[in-house]
Amino acid sequence: MLTLQLSDFSIEEFLAHYWQKKPVLIRQGFPGFYDLIRPDELAGLACEPQIESRLIYKQDGAWQAESGPFESYGRFGKKDWTLVVQAVDHWSPDVADLVQAFSFIPKWRLDDVMISYATNGGGVGPHIDLYDVFICQGSGRRHWRVGERGDHRQFAAHPALLHTAPFDAIIDAELIAGDILYIPPGFPHDGICLENSMSFSVGFRSKSARDMLSGLADHLIDNELGSALISDAGRPLHTEQGHINRSDMALMKAQMQAVLDDELVMADFVGSFLSKTKCELDLQALEDEITQDDLLDLLQNEGLRRTGGLRCFYLDQTIDQGVCYVDGQRYEFGSSARESVIALCDNDEVDEEMLEGGLQLSGFVAALLEWVNQGYWYAE
Ligand code: SIN
Ligand code: CO
Repeated sequence: MLTLQLSDFSIEEFLAHYWQKKPVLIRQGFPGFYDLIRPDELAGLACEPQIESRLIYKQDGAWQAESGPFESYGRFGKKDWTLVVQAVDHWSPDVADLVQAFSFIPKWRLDDVMISYATNGGGVGPHIDLYDVFICQGSGRRHWRVGERGDHRQFAAHPALLHTAPFDAIIDAELIAGDILYIPPGFPHDGICLENSMSFSVGFRSKSARDMLSGLADHLIDNELGSALISDAGRPLHTEQGHINRSDMALMKAQMQAVLDDELVMADFVGSFLSKTKCELDLQALEDEITQDDLLDLLQNEGLRRTGGLRCFYLDQTIDQGVCYVDGQRYEFGSSARESVIALCDNDEVDEEMLEGGLQLSGFVAALLEWVNQGYWYAE
């Protein structure tokens, strides 16, 4: 397993001083780091229609971007282009392992591991991201410049590329294998490849109130919740027919607030909503489905591994009932499954001992069997 090596500060200091606040270059955060996937394997993934990829290059001085899948790369020549592939952690267990090195941030904040392969002179252009990212340099070298947060002018250099105007650098450095550049949202940055290179970007996402409320509305509709109408029995005399007054507005806000204050409704919404994946999972359903005995055998001898990118969570409000949320679905196994549910959600790999309590429960075993047969967890 990769372990993050911090020489200038502790993880606690990183969280206090840098996370979401300012960019920092972590020299040799991964000493001896090597590419977790080869460039030709990455290029192969970008040929698959279910995998999101983009190729960015300049033609006669103008930025160009093409979306995958790609059939070949010959026409792009030997320099000045970058191939970017999203959610490679879903398709490569070695790449999925990289996320573990950042386990001091909870999984619900994770977006994906995006990998870019750039040829000499390649880059995606100066831009600002909405996400926190740890750019881990693999093979080759890249020159990175990062500017201060501020009111930077942004413009479409191409319909698919939002760039930012030139900026002064607060970090200006050449990265070699093992170096990590952390960039919080809002800081302009630009990486130019000096020598064919691979970058592994572990990205963390957050949600806007708009995303959350729209997800909550879907959750209420799907589960037939929140349908009680506003009640105004005993309302005072109203004289202005066209007026929605403050006290009526307060009734409406109170009605919505009651949904937000319902801890169980909100726990189920948040758990289901945040456990949905944005990109497709590499679910390899078993052709020959296994039985409960096979499952117990696997747990005893090999253990099970969660498929890359699978999101599963528990919340304080519902964990005592043994509730977990896996890939958008809610499962309830009862209080004696509590520790097993926690083990399942907190670890990429589980074995018989970790799931001991749950394995005494027929509902838990049946769900685990179903997950394994569908490919959510697998034996290596
Ligand atoms: C890249 O890896 O080429 C781009 C990463 C980024 O700027 O977020
Ligand atoms: Co970026």
